[in-house]
Amino acid sequence: MPALAERLGAAPVAATVTMTIRARALRAAGAEVIPLTIGEPDFPTPLHAIEAGYKAALAGQTKYPPQDGTPALKEAVRKKFRRENGLEFAPDEVMVGNGGKQVLYDAVMATVDPGDEVVIPRPCWTAYPLMTKLAGGVPVSVSCPENNGFKLRAEDLEAAITPRTKLLILNLPNNPTGAACTRAELAEIGAVISRHKQLWVVADDMYEHLVYDDSFSLVTLAAAVPDIADRVVTVAGVSKTYAMTGWRIGFAGGPRALIKAMVNMQGQVTAGVSTVGQAAAVAALEGPQELVAERRAIYRRRRDLVVAMLNEAPGITCRKPEGAFYVYPNVGGCIGRTSAGGRPIATDQDFAQALLEEAHVAVVHGAAFGMSPYLRISYATDEAALTEACRRIAEFTAGLR
Ligand SMILES: Cc1ncc(COP(=O)(O)O)c(C=O)c1O
Repeated sequence: MPALAERLGAAPVAATVTMTIRARALRAAGAEVIPLTIGEPDFPTPLHAIEAGYKAALAGQTKYPPQDGTPALKEAVRKKFRRENGLEFAPDEVMVGNGGKQVLYDAVMATVDPGDEVVIPRPCWTAYPLMTKLAGGVPVSVSCPENNGFKLRAEDLEAAITPRTKLLILNLPNNPTGAACTRAELAEIGAVISRHKQLWVVADDMYEHLVYDDSFSLVTLAAAVPDIADRVVTVAGVSKTYAMTGWRIGFAGGPRALIKAMVNMQGQVTAGVSTVGQAAAVAALEGPQELVAERRAIYRRRRDLVVAMLNEAPGITCRKPEGAFYVYPNVGGCIGRTSAGGRPIATDQDFAQALLEEAHVAVVHGAAFGMSPYLRISYATDEAALTEACRRIAEFTAGLR
């Protein structure tokens, strides 16, 4: 066989996928596995969005779309940024991609040259370092410790920036920790960015609508720190907010030159984004928004349930996150022990594997996101399953020797 390109050696199979495959195998063998690995809402796509996609197809919207998105969706995206984020964009300052993921990839490819450094607060979504490496860039991770609420400290950001730093990727609320920053915290981070004029910033707001405490109001970076807005590209989408992960629609608003380059990048890889998906996304953005608040209330109850139950489990402590649908419990009290089934627990990966094999609960180990000893638990599933999963986790940790 001829050799494959080396570049993909930099992109191993995501740990989340590996755990999901093992969980499926156990399930096929008859085990009642509770999967808490995947970052996907368990709700259906709103009916009016599905109908809009169907009608668009029937109406003949089945031809190649403009590469930067249909005029209707771009207009809906501009309105969304104005209404929800207080950000004003001209039509050529927004673009649509195949999911938030492609938009992020477009942004990395449009800003990072080989050898450029990309500052990525850690723990982080696994995709950022991999995208950086695919672009030939060098991921530079900055630790966001638990005792700072898993949030990036301005002084740590300052220390990580070098003359080669080209891009900072900020994801709030965060996958995997659920952490989100206040306006004042963003202002401190913004002051550092402001000093380093060579820096582009991606604000990944994919979980912007999943924020739970009334006392906490989320503001996006470009709105919190307007004097750096000409270097910030704000990325969001319909996947998490409207339970539309399979429609593959994400979007961005940012400086014209960067958006143009991102569209150019996308145009080389795909001839645009599914017209049917774009029509559905217009309906989601422009249609009734009540369901966003209804679902948020459900996620909030689940978060509170999971945090309370995990804090009862011996050896585990769990910070209550501001948002997203993940908790990131600390399993430090379980490391160095042995499971009831005789498996030594030296790392969080050992913990996750033993938990899957012995308690049939699938979670992802913190090392996969760059910070140990933690687990990422997705609570985008029903309360009965969450209650049973947390009961099994507590039983598992109580059984450690
Ligand atoms: C932090 C973060 N950004 C972006 C995405 C990508 O979203 P999409 O499904 O729209 O590609 C995800 C998906 O898990 C995510 O966790």
